[in-house]
Amino acid sequence: MSELAEALRSHLGARAPRVALVLGSGLGALVGAVADPKRIPYAALPGMPVSAVSGHAGEVVIGHLAGVEVVILSGRIHYYESGDPAAMRPALEALKAVGIEILMLTNAAGSVNPGIQPGEVMLIEDHIAFSGRNPLIGEPSDARFVGMTTAYDEALRRAMLNGAAKAGEALHRGVYLWFSGPSFETPAEIRMAKVLGADAVGMSTVPETILARFLGLRVVAASVITNMGAGITGNELSHAETKEVAPLGGARLARILTQALPDIAA
Ligand code: HPA
Repeated sequence: MSELAEALRSHLGARAPRVALVLGSGLGALVGAVADPKRIPYAALPGMPVSAVSGHAGEVVIGHLAGVEVVILSGRIHYYESGDPAAMRPALEALKAVGIEILMLTNAAGSVNPGIQPGEVMLIEDHIAFSGRNPLIGEPSDARFVGMTTAYDEALRRAMLNGAAKAGEALHRGVYLWFSGPSFETPAEIRMAKVLGADAVGMSTVPETILARFLGLRVVAASVITNMGAGITGNELSHAETKEVAPLGGARLARILTQALPDIAA
């Protein structure tokens, strides 16, 4: 077991969560809904990849959400911070080592679908790894040949859709396309993403989904839409806007999750 996994295990004590959540840009407020939280800064966890992106808290939160024991990673390192698409691998391996079976990934994203607007939430049904990078390059075992046909777990998706219905919240469904960032896209790139079949674009989640499937974790993922893709409205995009709008959709995602988590964990 890695030093990071050992540290996580000792913080967990007698708790045995099976569900972990990764919170994207501006979505840290979800932590406020955690009952009996235990908060551990990433800096206090040896080997934990630390993101320097503003809007990412950088802490592990252990506690209960909707009565379900969870581990939350509030903040994630991105491919664009180091050029390493496997930057999250030690964190995901540690989660697996301490008994996590289900990984919920969240992100802030731009919409390329006029039917999905800022402040709304999109359940990721499938993805396009458009950055061209794969976090399993260099992995020597045959396990690297991961099937991605049902990368986003069907039963978990159903639980999210049922949760949204119970919460009375709209939950869109769509395809997430991964651009490396950190610059935002051009209008031509956004038109291309649409032609390729994307509904939303963003700078994370895809490498983590690939790694999680490699590790045998079940994955469910959702995007909080913070803006329309470049060129759609004529407004310039900014990280300030992402951080400002994300909490609106984040509150919606929290209401959906509150209803869905018991089914997700079942
Ligand atoms: N593009 C890429 N990443 C994003 C966007 C976007 O428009 N909005 C939030 N994250």
